[in-house]
Amino acid sequence: MTQLQINEVAPRDGFQIEATFVPTADKIRLIDALSATGLARIEATSFVSPKAIPNLRDAAEVVSGIQRRDDVGITVLVPNVKGLERALECRVDEVNLVMSASDSHGQANLRMTPEQSLEQFAAIVKGLRGDSRGSNVFVNASLSTSFGCPFEGEVAEARVLELVERQLALGVQGVTLCDTTGMANPAQVARLCEAAQARFPDVPFTLHFHNTRGMGLANALAAWQAGIVRFDASLGGLGGCPYAPGATGNVCTEDLVHMFEQMGVSTGVDLDALLAASAMLPGLVGHDTPGQVVKAGKSDRRYSMPAR
Ligand code: COA
Ligand code: ZN
Repeated sequence: MTQLQINEVAPRDGFQIEATFVPTADKIRLIDALSATGLARIEATSFVSPKAIPNLRDAAEVVSGIQRRDDVGITVLVPNVKGLERALECRVDEVNLVMSASDSHGQANLRMTPEQSLEQFAAIVKGLRGDSRGSNVFVNASLSTSFGCPFEGEVAEARVLELVERQLALGVQGVTLCDTTGMANPAQVARLCEAAQARFPDVPFTLHFHNTRGMGLANALAAWQAGIVRFDASLGGLGGCPYAPGATGNVCTEDLVHMFEQMGVSTGVDLDALLAASAMLPGLVGHDTPGQVVKAGKSDRRYSMPAR
């Protein structure tokens, strides 16, 4: 059975929406702890406008400050050419370009329509491949609102697939289908995952779920049953898009790892080390997290019988 590849997004999707700025040294300490858990990739930060996302204004310091390991890919979110230039300074392994499948979320989040984002993508890939520091950098694209838009509602599967095709034609190498505000349900997830893999069999697809309506793990399971092995997930279940009303946390990494490992599906992740990292979060963000296994313990935890 293929081992899953988990991309940890708490340092990006998680910290971007927190009410307070997580100090740079704490971000670095957390990413270093996460790097030692067996995660395949870590989305360390975003090279976006510091006015749009002030919490990630220390992106360059974070990427330059973390310990790098050969077995952990460091990816960063990049929305435009300016973001690429900043990312290239820091020797990243992967850039995660971002655009929306729907016009209104694109405008709200990035001040770009999908068409304008695709123009940026073309310029980013050109800039990357034309730079000696970028020749080996993997280009992933995240497609927000792939399962529905909080402003427009349904996003047609045909539109999602057409946008994927146009991304690939520009030189994108991997695609993340994002359920930005937790609108997806497992049946819909299975349909889109099957259709995407049938049409683009050689493309590594990652699935990115938010647990906004409690369907995150069910959606991840449906995606896995449809053949997906790459998942974004966020430690403690932190996360959310600041430009999508009602957005809440991602599917929780340790809960996802726990579920798959209990099923006998290898994730390559040391769950105890991950839980120890998750236990750091309340001290960093100043509040409890939605993660469940970190509170309940793994399902092999045994309790003493209550005294009678
Ligand atoms: N990094 C740093 N600064 C950037 C930048 C980047 N990638 N892109 C633009 N800027 C700066 C410009 O230099 C300019 O600065 P100035 O006002 O001091 O001159 C300012 O931002 C506006 O630039 P402009 O090109 O007009 O961008 P915009 O205002 O249209 O914003 C984005 C477009 C994409 C940069 C902005 O919407 C953004 O960063 N969004 C991030 C959304 C996000 O991360 N959402 C959550 C994750 S999906
Ligand atoms: Zn997200």
